[in-house]
Amino acid sequence: MLTLKNVTKTYRHSDGDVYALRDIDLTIGAGDFITVTGGSGSGKTTLLLCMAGLMRPTSGTITFGDRKIETATDKELSAYRSKHIGFVMQSFALIPYLTAIENVMLPLAVPGAGRTDQVSAATDLLQLVGLENRRNHLPRELSAGQQQRVAVARAMINEPSLILADEPTGNLDPALSGEIMQLFTEINKQRGVTIVMVTHSPAAAAYGNRNIRLAEGRILAGA
Ligand SMILES: Nc1ncnc2c1ncn2[C@@H]1O[C@H](COP(=O)(O)OP(=O)(O)O)[C@@H](O)[C@H]1O
Ligand SMILES: [Mg+2]
Repeated sequence: MLTLKNVTKTYRHSDGDVYALRDIDLTIGAGDFITVTGGSGSGKTTLLLCMAGLMRPTSGTITFGDRKIETATDKELSAYRSKHIGFVMQSFALIPYLTAIENVMLPLAVPGAGRTDQVSAATDLLQLVGLENRRNHLPRELSAGQQQRVAVARAMINEPSLILADEPTGNLDPALSGEIMQLFTEINKQRGVTIVMVTHSPAAAAYGNRNIRLAEGRILAGA
């Protein structure tokens, strides 16, 4: 599904270039649930951003199906993201003045299905994450775990084939983390969505079918 070959990313800095990723070779198969671990600064977020087409590698190739990501135009990358990728972040990134269902529908602000279809798709996803009775609540009226579940529903609204999650349980206590991980497991197993999840938590990493460990921008184990 997604293949990275010799992917290197350096950030320019006045003190010299920082190598965030070095020669990453990685193949992600459809249906995989991959967890990415590694210390702070090991390149985990950079790896996800490159996979999402939000950042271009300095060298190397990234292919999604038969599509080359690293040479795509900005417009093609934007289409790639909205069509294929769902992104979940540690900080939830919900819009504070929009209700739960409005947040879920946010990525749909493009021509396509009629509004009734959009509301019904968003309602189904709120049901999937167990929040259909909170559809008209604002983020501040929801607990941290509930907010992250809204963010997961929002990541699913475009029916992505790949969900990229950057420390999605980093702000949650162990019980709430477990609920989010069960949700990801269900999305992976029942809906066949491929997941790549960065995590600091060994308990969360245990939910995946494969673990990749990064250190100083290189893959240590797994792959
Ligand atoms: N925008 C940036 N400019 C310069 N250096 C950066 C930037 N973003 C990340 N880095 C550096 O790249 C390395 C990898 O960072 P990152 O991918 O955020 O790691 P992680 O998510 O594992 O903590 C670190 O050394 C970090 O300081
Ligand atoms: Mg990070």
